[in-house]
Amino acid sequence: MCGIVAITGPNEAVPFLLEGLRRLEYRGYDSAGVATLVDGGIDRRRAAGRIDNLAEVLRTAPLAGTTGIGHTRWATHGRPSEGNAHPHATDRVALVHNGIIENYRSLRQEVVDRGLQPESETDSEVAALLLTALLREGATPEEAVPAMLARLEGAFSLAMIFAGHDGLVIGARRGSPLAIGWGRDEMFLGSDALALAPVTQRISYLEDGDWVALRADGARVHDAAGREVERPFTQSAYSGALVGKGNHAHFMHKEIHEQPTVIGYTLHRMIDAAAGRVALSDLNVDLSAIRRVQLSACGTAALAALTARHWIEGLAGIPTSWDVASELRYRAVPMSGTELGVFVSQSGETADTLGAMAQAQSAGAHTLAITNVAESSMAREADDVLLTMAGPEIGVAATKTFTCQLVALACLAMAIGRARGVLGEARESAFVQALSEVPSRINDILGREQQLVTLAETIAPARNVLYIGRGMSHPLAMEGALKLKEISYIHAEGYAAGELKHGPIALIDGSMPVIVVAPRDALFPKTLSNMEEVLARGARVLLFTDAEGAEEADRPGVESFVMPAIDPLAAPLLYAVPIQLIAYHVALQKGTDVDQPRNLAKSVTVE
Ligand code: F6R
Repeated sequence: MCGIVAITGPNEAVPFLLEGLRRLEYRGYDSAGVATLVDGGIDRRRAAGRIDNLAEVLRTAPLAGTTGIGHTRWATHGRPSEGNAHPHATDRVALVHNGIIENYRSLRQEVVDRGLQPESETDSEVAALLLTALLREGATPEEAVPAMLARLEGAFSLAMIFAGHDGLVIGARRGSPLAIGWGRDEMFLGSDALALAPVTQRISYLEDGDWVALRADGARVHDAAGREVERPFTQSAYSGALVGKGNHAHFMHKEIHEQPTVIGYTLHRMIDAAAGRVALSDLNVDLSAIRRVQLSACGTAALAALTARHWIEGLAGIPTSWDVASELRYRAVPMSGTELGVFVSQSGETADTLGAMAQAQSAGAHTLAITNVAESSMAREADDVLLTMAGPEIGVAATKTFTCQLVALACLAMAIGRARGVLGEARESAFVQALSEVPSRINDILGREQQLVTLAETIAPARNVLYIGRGMSHPLAMEGALKLKEISYIHAEGYAAGELKHGPIALIDGSMPVIVVAPRDALFPKTLSNMEEVLARGARVLLFTDAEGAEEADRPGVESFVMPAIDPLAAPLLYAVPIQLIAYHVALQKGTDVDQPRNLAKSVTVE
């Protein structure tokens, strides 16, 4: 979602703010702005669109000052425009905000009644106006901020500077993360440690409800009860170098190609290859005591979790439920201490996943986060954590983090199965072996990318695309459709192949490509029958299957991409790759913005 940076110290603010915003641009990119204190007064620059537009504004109208805040926006309330861009400012205060202020309507009326006029359509501006009212009544910034925070409902993080208070930045966190960066005679705030990496690796995180006053010589943190508190230091693993695209045209392409390597890293952390066994030494939970597993996540991570339901039921023989986090968090699901709640999130900051996890925790379940960010809120709040080793993912569409999540979930399923005594050594060793073969099999697929470029040419002109699959290929069909729609803007649906005749088959005609995901598993003959049904109605079929499957399915209207043979249990890890590449090449052919598709953001910190 939105990204926040702030600085105070002896150096010019704008170069840091711009660099920090570029590093946060993946969180939102519909407008951006910065504000600094110049001779004790507030000055700001804002621009609709990308950070480059803001940089251009700053080139023609530079902004001095050594105390400043910056923001890159993903619109929630109010359309993306310069007028709605942050910072929101009055003569007293400038403020940037990430999250949602739920009670902004009543607060808006209140500030109007107090003689202040909102200029934007945003919820964020009411916080600046409320602060202004308090400051005008004589409060100091350190009195006004907690008083203002006490009035806000919702989940958010904020950074503020105050006219007449050179050198002071105040930040606050409720729900949305905020990191303090400790420099030499210089202090920083950032939505994540990645934004601060060029200036410092010494980080401390605000806890929920904290607010902090930063001055060049340090930070004073207060908790929600107003007590002055210390927050521990951590050493961020991010380097100052900007994550680059290497020889690739897009981050997404680079990240797809990194999969053999990062799957290898994640496997290395989770299996003992020599022994042919899973080794989740990071876990504290007694898996033998677990009676039910609840899986939950959002978007692509939710589809990794849905795949895992098959593994956990099949290998561990334990009842397993799945729901998207935005639904689960508001359902009254009975849970107890024998429940394992597994929450999957690349960023570890997704508001709904955090909400569902908190709900499971308060119901007494043991929570396990699978995340790619060690410092994330989920990693810190869960009872147990499995870290995927995908490295920073910059492309908005998740690719390598999806397959690394699958690795972690497959290993978890085996660990539960073994702990419960239902997974035999031979089965475990065969699955571990199959997982170990995945990186080289993916390399084989990547080496045949040109074939997928050609196949993408047949998909790109379509207005609608249907993906179908059964069993573990059903979530993959959904993932294929999600990837295609988010980056190419082609309408696509992922369906359980057997459900087709209960409605969606009415959509099929000659203009509708149907992408069939069908490794040669026990369900292959059934999927083949469903493929026949769409062929009979004039659809063109693109089939992902192995050599034997392709031979069996060879008939007019079917074009096959031949996948390497693999144990069907490990097939989702492999079949994910051509599905990602098809979406990528269709988007490329359509000329859309692959890495930053419209309306999306990488880390969704609002519900
Ligand atoms: C799709 C995509 C999103 C995310 C979802 C959850 O390509 O990236 O659907 O998977 O927003 O994000 P995380 O995993 O950070 O919780």
